[in-house]
Amino acid sequence: MAQEKPQNETLDLTALLADTEAFIAYLNKVRNGRKLSFYDFVSVEVLTAEDVQLLFDTAALLKFFVESPMKKLGLLRGKSIINLFFENSTRTRISFELGGKHMGADTINFSAKSSSVSKGETIGDTGKTLNAMKTDLVICRNAEAGVPLLLAKEMECPIINAGDGWHEHPSQALFDVFTIYEHFRKLEGIKLLIVGDILHSRVAGSLMRLANMTGIELMVCAPQTLLPDGIEQFTDHIYYDLDAVIDEADVVYSLRPQSERNALKYIPSLREYSKMYGINKTRLAKMKSTSIVMHPGPVMRDLDLMTEVLESEQCKVDQQVTNGFAMRMALMWLMIGEI
Ligand code: NCD
Repeated sequence: MAQEKPQNETLDLTALLADTEAFIAYLNKVRNGRKLSFYDFVSVEVLTAEDVQLLFDTAALLKFFVESPMKKLGLLRGKSIINLFFENSTRTRISFELGGKHMGADTINFSAKSSSVSKGETIGDTGKTLNAMKTDLVICRNAEAGVPLLLAKEMECPIINAGDGWHEHPSQALFDVFTIYEHFRKLEGIKLLIVGDILHSRVAGSLMRLANMTGIELMVCAPQTLLPDGIEQFTDHIYYDLDAVIDEADVVYSLRPQSERNALKYIPSLREYSKMYGINKTRLAKMKSTSIVMHPGPVMRDLDLMTEVLESEQCKVDQQVTNGFAMRMALMWLMIGEI
């Protein structure tokens, strides 16, 4: 996948980053009139190869912005974005909120406790209420699978799924695959090994789908009880013994046991999970020196990822967060920004 990076000799990145209008003009030049093929982003399944390319090109540029002292872009001035989060979140909520603000949108956070859903209003009726206020974009996280899709049916504005139950978390998969691409400069044939609580992980739900769409070779390693029924539809490379397979992977993608979704009922103990599926320095040493470790966060430090692994150069957790910020800005701009 050819990623557009501002590397040609005529491009002065420092000058661009000092001049908002010039940066926006360059973003539009790279965009080149392209539009996303989808309206709502509820599942990675809506993505075409062209969408992925456009999102990668835009996120690569916005990453320069994120890492620069420039803080305002004005790309979404006049737009209203509602973060409808019925579940806790740090990275996802803040990146959508701050990303929206950096682009000049009015962003509003709305949590379950403070919403009328706690008084018995249906999610569909909440959607109708927001619809009546003519909001431009709703970003929704919910403990139940299918809620963003339901909202998409009730509302005129686009919906982004920021995690629904055990189902999908599509923006996470996008920037995770972007992070893999950024590191290896290719996706085809890269061996991605997802480790741990795959059953309860909407991150894995989206990542497995997107991996299969982009030529990544998917492998999974988990206790039998933490693998979803039908895992074979995603991959034939199913392992239970991490030590037997970790040296084959280019990317080791660790997951925490998701106790809020009952994961502890599926394993003997957290200590056992950590011993069998935690990434420690012995396992890091078994990995290829070119391989990387990823994790969507929140990390359960010293349980799924050990401190020595978190501190290693091979660990890309912080880069994932930065890329997530850039990718979510790209997504919001491409979904609701004027061309
Ligand atoms: C994930 C989530 O909430 O789906 N976190 C995230 O968004 N980065 C994964 C998790 O909770 O383990």
